[in-house]
Amino acid sequence: MAAGGSLDSACGHDVITTKLTWSKEVSRIVLKRCAGCHRDEGAAFSLRTYNDARPWAKAIQEEVLRRRMPPSNAVKGFGELRHDLGLSEEEIHTIADWVDGGAPEGDPNLLPSGVKAVEPAPPLKGLRRSFRGNLKLAAPLRLSGIEMGAMAEGTSFKLVAERPDGTRQPLLWIEGYSKKAVQTYEFPARIALPAGTLLKAYPADGVQLRLITGSAPAR
Ligand code: HEC
Repeated sequence: MAAGGSLDSACGHDVITTKLTWSKEVSRIVLKRCAGCHRDEGAAFSLRTYNDARPWAKAIQEEVLRRRMPPSNAVKGFGELRHDLGLSEEEIHTIADWVDGGAPEGDPNLLPSGVKAVEPAPPLKGLRRSFRGNLKLAAPLRLSGIEMGAMAEGTSFKLVAERPDGTRQPLLWIEGYSKKAVQTYEFPARIALPAGTLLKAYPADGVQLRLITGSAPAR
């Protein structure tokens, strides 16, 4: 039953037009991708059960379609990140279609057990080195993450490492930067970048970043 006062409660007799259900498909996505924050005593209100989530169905649909939730500005699949909170296109559309179809619960016997929530990243240790736009490395370094510096809301850019041998490695794609979202992006393993590597943001304007390295970045 929807919480009193929510918009959804006005249309409590939704016609169910989808085979997708909370118990079978949607709970598996939400428990994995959202419940790290959305749980009792978490960073935000709980979305762990059907009763918790149902009153929020429309808001959930809107947040995931606009990629405002989970609150990471990074686009999935460009570079590789640890603690990747992002939803795949398929997950986004499963949620959206479920809501459009009346957000049915389905058979509670189909609920998953033991889904592990992806936890938001803990603060990343290491040295910080700031740069704006582009940076040519005078000495090799091992990159463990990237932190956002001062940046206008809504800024979008891609960051690529261009090694001296010509190979290019995508590091991070930020789409519609928001101060509310995650600010530190950690790589699953340190990325070794030789001297002469060019770190390049496209476009470079107004993008201030901090490299996080495990050891002192030699100059
Ligand atoms: C890293 C933590 C985190 C994760 C992961 C996360 N959220 Fe949130 N979410 C928040 C916080 C914090 C708020 C509260 C923002 C506020 O109070 O203004 C929020 C707010 C929301 C809101 C309310 C927005 C509004 O103001 O109407 C919805 C809906 C939502 N989240 C859905 C989701 C869904 C769905 C997922 C998973 C696909 C998700 N969130 C994952 C932290 C998170």
